[in-house]
This record gives sequence, structure tokens and C-alpha cells, in this order.
Amino acid sequence: MKALVHDGHGNIAIERRPEPEVLEPGDAIVRVSLSTICTSDLHIIHGAVPRALPNTVLGHEFVGVIEQVGESVTKLAPGDRVAVSCETFCGECFYCKRGWVNNCVQGGWELGCRIDGCQAEFVRVPFAEQTCSIIPDNVADEDALFLGDIVATGQWSAEIAELEPGCTVAVIGAGPVGLATMMCAKLAEPEHIIAIDIDAKRLALAKERGLADETIDASQMDLAAVEAAVRSLTEGRGADAVVEAAGGSNTFEMAWRIARPNAVVVIAAMYEGPQTLPLHEMYGKNLVFKTGGVDANNLDKTMSLVKDGRIDTSCLVSKRYPLNDILEAYRAFEAREDDCLKMIITPWKKR
Ligand SMILES: NC(=O)c1ccc[n+]([C@@H]2O[C@H](COP(=O)([O-])OP(=O)(O)OC[C@H]3O[C@@H](n4cnc5c(N)ncnc54)[C@H](O)[C@@H]3O)[C@@H](O)[C@H]2O)c1
Ligand SMILES: [Zn+2]
Ligand SMILES: [Zn+2]
Repeated sequence: MKALVHDGHGNIAIERRPEPEVLEPGDAIVRVSLSTICTSDLHIIHGAVPRALPNTVLGHEFVGVIEQVGESVTKLAPGDRVAVSCETFCGECFYCKRGWVNNCVQGGWELGCRIDGCQAEFVRVPFAEQTCSIIPDNVADEDALFLGDIVATGQWSAEIAELEPGCTVAVIGAGPVGLATMMCAKLAEPEHIIAIDIDAKRLALAKERGLADETIDASQMDLAAVEAAVRSLTEGRGADAVVEAAGGSNTFEMAWRIARPNAVVVIAAMYEGPQTLPLHEMYGKNLVFKTGGVDANNLDKTMSLVKDGRIDTSCLVSKRYPLNDILEAYRAFEAREDDCLKMIITPWKKR
């Protein structure tokens, strides 16, 4: 089969690889119908993800059709259309039992990072019963495509931000993850969602789609000005909750500056370098920081939100490329060509 592989030195190439086989009783082999490119794939290629293994097939956001299942899989059968979580997890270990599946002792973020991922024709999915969710008949593949990763992250971020009805949540970054976070945050009925970015077009989209009530274009502002702008929208206090989904050079500092005292600050972004935590400067603000890789165990929940029309990710889709042209898709995605948000990779085409 054809697969997109990174070599650990910043290079990617389409390679011919053997089709994956069932290795464990809980595995499923999934024929990939649609996959995407995630900003985290770029972090891997840039060498900024220490846990990533070279010569692995990239990709961790996809939907597909079950081809084959291992002997212990009873809830899935060949032919089932499934969305797949970016994290594979056993469901039974200390961490899984507490919902912290990102730290599953037998899994976590493995697909496209430590084991072969979905930018290929087929993929082996461990712990398939936990990891896959059947797509209902009235939900199209494209509408379920982002549930495994960016919507999982948006839902997780909104949940751990402890949003309450009537609160103000600031989301830094109006990229795919930030926009997905706004979609999920909206369900908690905040009074205001404030979107902050340096890209006016992404902010305009957030406003047009009703995902943000207010937007702050920080491109010409220093952090003091951003902080003042957030305060002016929050009776001088700052945001009740902040989700940092940008990963920019100053956005960690922005996140804690725009938070009100006792706020929850969620760091969803992945940084490519260390950040500074100046506790002496924030002393007395009594902030709660929550960081990390998404606990991506909310697929059934987000699937029913899509089914009921409460989450609609169609505004994130920019362009579709067959797997044959994935190198071009990566180039355009990284260059943010034509203001793209998400690229969809369709199956290999015989030409
Ligand atoms: N925690 C997780 O499990 C998880 C899951 C998926 C993605 N991620 C990470 O989330 C981050 C966001 O992903 P994405 O696909 O939306 O990325 P993206 O790069 O498309 O979006 C980031 C946005 O932040 C904006 N930005 C950059 N610098 C800024 C600044 N100084 N001030 C304000 N805005 C600024 C950019 O203009 C962009 O719109 C990435 O780091 C990605 O790796 C984390
Ligand atoms: Zn991702
Ligand atoms: Zn586990």
C-alpha cells in the first residue's frame, strides 16, 4: 500500500509499505476513507515531538471502514464505518479508569507518532473497541472526520476549562483547534467567547460562524494591549477561563495575563520550545493551569453532538487531495495557502 512516512530528519515521502495485519486480539484493520493533516504532524516533522519515532507512517485524524478485526473484538465488524480516536487506549489501566487515556500505560498518542498512522491506505488500530466509534447512517464521513483529534481536543479543553453558563472564555488561536474549542465551549452557554489571533481572516470566520462573540486581532498589539482589551470586555477582571490553542512565541504569557484571578488556564497548544512560568509575577493571581495532550475518549459524545446537529465542522474544510498528492497538501497546509484551515486526504487514485 501507499503511505506517507517521515524519516526523523525533517523529510517526508510516499513509500510502498506492506498492508498492516492484526497483531493483537483487540486490533482492527481500517481502510482509510478520509484523513487530514494536523499541525502536530508538522511538529513531528520539525523534530519537536520527542516521543515520535522516525520511519513511522504519519497521521492521526481519520475515518474509515473496518476491514478485519481481532478475535476479541465483538462490537465492530467488517464493513462498519468508523471514526477513530487519535489516541489508542486499553480502557483498563490506572489512567484509563480515571479517564486519563492520554497516559494509558499501553497506549496514548501512538497512531502516527510511535506506530503507523492513517496517512496511508490502511491502518492497524489497537484497542479498536475503545478507539473506534461507529458513524451513524445520517452522518457523512466528512462530518465525523475531525472528531478523533481536533474536536476531541476542543471538547476536552472546554470541559477541563470548567466553563459555567454566563462565563467569559478567551480562546487564543482561531486555527482548527481554537475553532473546534469555540464550537464545544459554546455548548456550555458562556456569555462571551473571545477569540484572539493575529490572522484577521480566521477571526472573521470565527465571528461569521457565530463561534466568537468578540475578536481581538493581536497582530499589532503588545501583550499589555491584549490584556487591556480582554479586561475591557470583562468588567476589568480578565477572562474566567482561557484556552491557549495557538502555540505562538508569546501566547503562553498572553494566556496567563488575560486570565482573571482564580481562572483556569488550559494549555492545549504544543510548543516547539520551553516556556517561562514567572511565578513571582503572577503571585497572588491564584491561577489553575491545566496542560497536556488531550484525553481523547469523548468520541461517542461528540458523535452524538454531530448527529444532533449541535457541532458542525464544515467551515474547517479547505481543500481535498488524493493520497497521491499528499506532499503538495503538506506544502500548502504549512504555507497556509489560500487561508486554508484543514486539508482532507482522499484515497489513492489510480491514474
Ligand atoms: N493538546 C492536544 O492534544 C492537541 C491536539 C491537537 C492539536 N494540538 C496543538 O494545538 C495547536 C493548534 O493547532 P492548530 O491546528 O489550530 O494550529 P494552527 O497553527 O493552525 O493555529 C494556531 C493559530 O494561532 C495563531 N497564532 C500564532 N501566534 C499567535 C500569537 N502570537 N497571538 C495570537 N495568535 C497567534 C495563528 O495565527 C493560528 O491561527 C498546535 O500546537 C497543535 O499541535 C494539541
Ligand atoms: Zn493532531
Ligand atoms: Zn489504559
